[in-house]
Amino acid sequence: MIFTVAIDGPAAAGKGTISRAVAAQFGFAHLDTGLLYRAVGAKGGDPVRAAQTLSDADLARPDLRTLAAGQAASRVATIPEVRAALVAFQRAFARREGGAVLDGRDIGTVICPEAEVKLYVTASAQVRAHRRWLEVGGDEAQVLAEVIERDKRDAERAVAPLKPAPDALVLDTSEMTVEEAVDAARAVIAARIEGRS
Ligand code: C5P
Repeated sequence: MIFTVAIDGPAAAGKGTISRAVAAQFGFAHLDTGLLYRAVGAKGGDPVRAAQTLSDADLARPDLRTLAAGQAASRVATIPEVRAALVAFQRAFARREGGAVLDGRDIGTVICPEAEVKLYVTASAQVRAHRRWLEVGGDEAQVLAEVIERDKRDAERAVAPLKPAPDALVLDTSEMTVEEAVDAARAVIAARIEGRS
């Protein structure tokens, strides 16, 4: 079965948690596409060359989850040639046999507009910054400033900007527990699978 779940949204909205949970529930493969951009940013040197030569070892670096890696990722993610170098891998992953969940910023709009399910997961900047701060620690006001700066760069860039696909279901998780958010996503996916059979 070819079945793609596209989960887009701003930083720390809960995309990763929801994606991992529904991938496990439905037996689908999962790709965190932010990791690709984080690895390109962390590699240093020419970002286009880094994207063209990205290896498994680059994706396994232990420092990809830091705030600094997130900022570096969102800078290289504005470069059209970097994005272009990563398209084929993501498209192939999305349409692999057995089902796939991809989370990112442009999965439903650019990478896989034909995705069977498109979710746009969001939450207020304060809630998202608080969640990220619980993970990384440090100064919460600084975390909020970085989240806002990254969202602005992602939403305002010329290529593949962060925005919901016209046919995406928007899920605002500001007031939801993790279980509620995962349940809502699971229900949408189950209904779509049901509708196909
Ligand atoms: O999702 P994550 O926070 O790991 O993404 C890091 C950065 O990578 C984002 O801020 C964004 O600039 C970029 N990104 C992107 N397109 C994607 C996934 C991530 O531009 N599909």
